[in-house]
Amino acid sequence: MGMLDGKIAIVTGAGSGLGRASAVALAAAGASVIVSDAVDDGGVETTVRINDAGGIAVYQHCDVSIAAECAALVEIARSEFGALHILHNNAGVAWPGRDNFAPDMDPAVWDKVISINLSGTFYCCHYAVPLMAASGGGSIINTASSMAHTPLGGLDGYAASKGGVALLTKSMSPNAGRLKIRVNAISPGYVDTPMNEMIWGNDDVKHAFNLGHATGLQSSDEIADLVVFLASDHSRSLTGAVLNCDGGWTAFKQPDLLRGFGVE
Ligand SMILES: NC(=O)c1ccc[n+]([C@@H]2O[C@H](COP(=O)([O-])OP(=O)(O)OC[C@H]3O[C@@H](n4cnc5c(N)ncnc54)[C@H](O)[C@@H]3O)[C@@H](O)[C@H]2O)c1
Repeated sequence: MGMLDGKIAIVTGAGSGLGRASAVALAAAGASVIVSDAVDDGGVETTVRINDAGGIAVYQHCDVSIAAECAALVEIARSEFGALHILHNNAGVAWPGRDNFAPDMDPAVWDKVISINLSGTFYCCHYAVPLMAASGGGSIINTASSMAHTPLGGLDGYAASKGGVALLTKSMSPNAGRLKIRVNAISPGYVDTPMNEMIWGNDDVKHAFNLGHATGLQSSDEIADLVVFLASDHSRSLTGAVLNCDGGWTAFKQPDLLRGFGVE
């Protein structure tokens, strides 16, 4: 018996990193997973991996910055499975380079980051909540970031988008609770995924980030374990929570450590 047997889940941005690990872990716990991504190759690969391992997954293309594609994604849950219990809003971008101090940041880049990270989370919630309520309730897991709490500096759009995700999570939780839907967010620290390559750039900076976590740089699998917990009834007392699951990154002062590596 898996912890999530009989549950239907959607994971956005599931073609890489945290989203792929989350989709695989949810399926291993017994959920049927609708894998989605804006880049089809990665999403299809995740779907194949789940099915080859004996799980149940279907793939649906979805660019979360396009509301109609989020509606179509939720519609797959209705048409293929007749229900939806778990939504992991994972899709996100940081944006290339660290030149995103507000005056230097192209407004088009700002719009793009907000449209994917924040509006995409809203769109998926908007379309998913009625089906989740009709399915008897469930769990929404939004993906914030340590940057929602302690920004690095230089990624102003990203930090603002993740702060928005954190507050959307809290704001939705009272009304969602009446529909038997819990809404929580996770705030990882720095996970060894393709997204961070542009932040550390070289091994010295990566080493500094490793030291900045009490338990070292994080893995996608350890974050996925938390997603499974939040999706399950074991977390039934949690809603409106924004969880610092950051290996201690925000627990102690970082600037002195990072300045030596050119990260202010
Ligand atoms: N890696 C970290 O250290 C870290 C820390 C905190 C939060 N996060 C958040 O976790 C999430 C996943 O990050 P990751 O590190 O796995 O990144 P990643 O780059 O490895 O994967 C992101 C995935 O999202 C997809 N994606 C991008 N734009 C999309 C869109 N418009 N619609 C749908 N899918 C889209 C990409 O194709 C990719 O498959 C993001 O929301 C990120 O902000 C990551």
